[in-house]
Amino acid sequence: MSTERLKQERSVFIRTYGCQMNVYDSERMIGLLKPLGYDVAPTPDDADLVILNTCHIREKAAEKVYSDLGRLKRLKAAKQKTGGEMSIIVAGCVAQAEGAEITARAPQVDMVIGPQAYHRLPELLARAARERGDVLETDFAVEEKFDRLAARIVDGPSAFLTIQEGCDKFCTFCVVPYTRGPEVSRGVDAIVAEARSLTAQGVREITLLGQNVNAWRGASPAGEVGDIWGLGELCRHLALIDGIERIRFTTSHARDMDDGLIAALGEEEKLMPYLHLPVQAGSDKILKAMNRGHTVDHYRKLIARIRAARPDIAISGDFIVGFPSETSEDFEGTLALVEEIGYASAYSFKYSRRPGTPGAAMPKQVAEDEKEARLARLLVLLEGQRADFNRAMIGKIMPILLEKRGRHEGQLVGRTPYLQSVHVKAPESMLGLIASAHIEGVTPNALAGRLTTDGEAAA
Ligand code: SAH
Ligand code: SF4
Ligand code: F3S
Repeated sequence: MSTERLKQERSVFIRTYGCQMNVYDSERMIGLLKPLGYDVAPTPDDADLVILNTCHIREKAAEKVYSDLGRLKRLKAAKQKTGGEMSIIVAGCVAQAEGAEITARAPQVDMVIGPQAYHRLPELLARAARERGDVLETDFAVEEKFDRLAARIVDGPSAFLTIQEGCDKFCTFCVVPYTRGPEVSRGVDAIVAEARSLTAQGVREITLLGQNVNAWRGASPAGEVGDIWGLGELCRHLALIDGIERIRFTTSHARDMDDGLIAALGEEEKLMPYLHLPVQAGSDKILKAMNRGHTVDHYRKLIARIRAARPDIAISGDFIVGFPSETSEDFEGTLALVEEIGYASAYSFKYSRRPGTPGAAMPKQVAEDEKEARLARLLVLLEGQRADFNRAMIGKIMPILLEKRGRHEGQLVGRTPYLQSVHVKAPESMLGLIASAHIEGVTPNALAGRLTTDGEAAA
């Protein structure tokens, strides 16, 4: 496949599952394919290349890939009948974890490529075309991945920026240390360069990403204070970049929430007062079995310190119900902790037994209907907290970043510091600005507001 041939009207469809890091990776893959002449196709139907960027975190997520592959197989066969072609690539965490199984189970797949090998996509595509065979690429080499990925083209004023990959924590339920490899931090210079390229494209808000984003460490640039920086120093440094108005980071781990980061949250106004800090469970016994490396009390005190430093902060979390050996008493502990902390939003999941993780082999697995019942109770509590939090916004004046057009003519959708969507009447020329909105009502998934000014306002 010569570059010339690739340049003739080719199109790629990418379906992204899982976390924000996959969303970021998909954008980077598109960035690599565009110079080869690929346009983004809205559906797989007419695409020459289909990439499934997959997630392995829970069984359901992983199984979706195989049902998608079934559909693609029929699509590919139909295309081939009429003389067309379609290449199928499986990327992401399922590719990393089940590479060989995918090639065996789904011969329609042309290439299986793990999360650390995306920078090699053009070369692998060429090789696949040359050899007309399957390609399996699942080595770990994170630094290389970032160095060699093309710059991204982003749309809209808010963008993700991956600063850390991988995980060394080995929670006993989780596949991430196996699918994403060990913790690696990107260097300050590379992060700053990417942030600058984003602001040059009109980005005003960056969300720093990492499986354990607050485990990020980096050598400080020459002439700066301190030798080794943590995430707090990095955020303060990024806040100096012209054009960046809002900084977020996700996902943090309670073990890595150091004083420097808490101080930065308290002092740096560009850091948004919204922190995703999962605890998973509210029982010390379960936290220990999960290998989370801290107690309930550690988490409680940590939240108190963060709230003392930044009184307007809101917390979001993740929870797992029905981890092996979780009794109803342990689960009551989770409910009690949720009551005590008060979450602005949260994700909660039934424990999913993942092959190869220690949790999968543990005795005292919890029955599915019990998990279901616990999840239902937890969801009612968390949903109530979320609704209360949203309702408490009514009457307030909030700075919102106007991100996109609304569904109705003359309407834009902005985001509060707490990531709530706000629908306002505003001209399109205001897209990308931060404006003040008076919050007037709540709908199930958003807030309704009215702009108080007609331009740049509170940041
Ligand atoms: N690094 C983050 C979590 C990344 S995975 C942290 O440590 O908090 C995202 C979420 O998926 C987790 O917080 C957890 O709630 C959920 N999760 C991970 N593995 C799971 C499993 N086997 N079953 C159910 N939920 C799981
Ligand atoms: Fe998974 Fe635990 Fe690592 Fe989070 S900290 S990615 S839950 S192993
Ligand atoms: Fe899923 Fe991999 Fe992210 S398993 S949650 S896509 S790191």
